[in-house]
Amino acid sequence: MITIKNKVAIRKMEQAGARLVEIFQEIAPLVKAGTTTLEIDQAIESRIKAKGMESKTKGYMGYQHSSCISVNDVVVHGVPSAKVVLKNGDLVKVDVCASWNGYCADMARSFYVGQAPHDVARFIENAQRALNKGIEQARPGNRLGDISAAIQKEIEAEGYGIIRDFAGHGIGKQMHEEPEILNVGSAGQGPILRAGMAFAIEPMTTMGTHDVYITDDGWTVKTADKSLAAHVEDTVVVTENGPKILTRTTAANAASDSL
Ligand code: MF3
Ligand code: CO
Repeated sequence: MITIKNKVAIRKMEQAGARLVEIFQEIAPLVKAGTTTLEIDQAIESRIKAKGMESKTKGYMGYQHSSCISVNDVVVHGVPSAKVVLKNGDLVKVDVCASWNGYCADMARSFYVGQAPHDVARFIENAQRALNKGIEQARPGNRLGDISAAIQKEIEAEGYGIIRDFAGHGIGKQMHEEPEILNVGSAGQGPILRAGMAFAIEPMTTMGTHDVYITDDGWTVKTADKSLAAHVEDTVVVTENGPKILTRTTAANAASDSL
C-alpha cells in the first residue's frame, strides 16, 4: 500500500529535506583530493546529530555508516573508508537518508573532483536531467510508470546504461516504503499517483552497460564493465499543484517548475 501523508507528516519531511540540503552544502567542500570517504561520512554524521536528525542507514541491516559514498565504478552503497582517498578525476556519489521527528528525507548527489572532462560532465548532467524529468511526472492522476518511463527515455536518448537491479522507493516514517520506483518502465502503467504520496526518485546510470555486482563486503555495488556510474536522488511529495521537491532549495524548486 502506498501511504498518503497528512500535512503534519509532510511538514516534518520538509524539515528533514531542508536539513539534508544544508548538510550537502556544508560537506561539499570536503569532496576534494586528499579527503577520505570516511572523513566525509564523519562530517555528515556529526551534522546529522547537530541538526537533531537521526541517520536511517546507520544500523540498517548491519550497515555502520551515516552515508553511502560511491566512487567511480561504484554505483551505490559504497561503504565509507579511511582507505578510500579521493583524488583528482574521481566521480563521487554521496547518498544520505536521515529523519527529523520521525520522518525521513533521502538525497544523493554526484560530485566530480576537479574539472570534469566534457563527456563526463555530459554524463552527470544526463542523470540530473533524467531525475528532473521523472520528478516532473509526480503529479496526481499520473501513473507510477510515467515517472519510470520519463527517466528511462532521458537516459536512453544519450545511450547510457540504466541500472535495473536497484530502484527508488516510497518514503515517510521509513526510509524504504512502497512502491518500488524503477528507472525503466512504461507510461500509463502502475498505480495512480495521489496528493500526499512521497517518493525517493533516484536514477543510477553508467557510461557502459547496466550489469552490476555486489562486492565481498556485501554492500558495494559496482559496474561489471568498470564503467563510471552516476547517481542522483531527491525526495518528492505529490501535491495538487504538482511535484514538491523536499531536497532542493526553494529557488531550485521554482526552477524545476519550468522544466
Ligand atoms: N539511501 C539509500 C537509498 O536511497 C539507502 C542506502 S542503504 C544502506 O535507498 F543501507 F546501504 F545505506
Ligand atoms: Co533512496
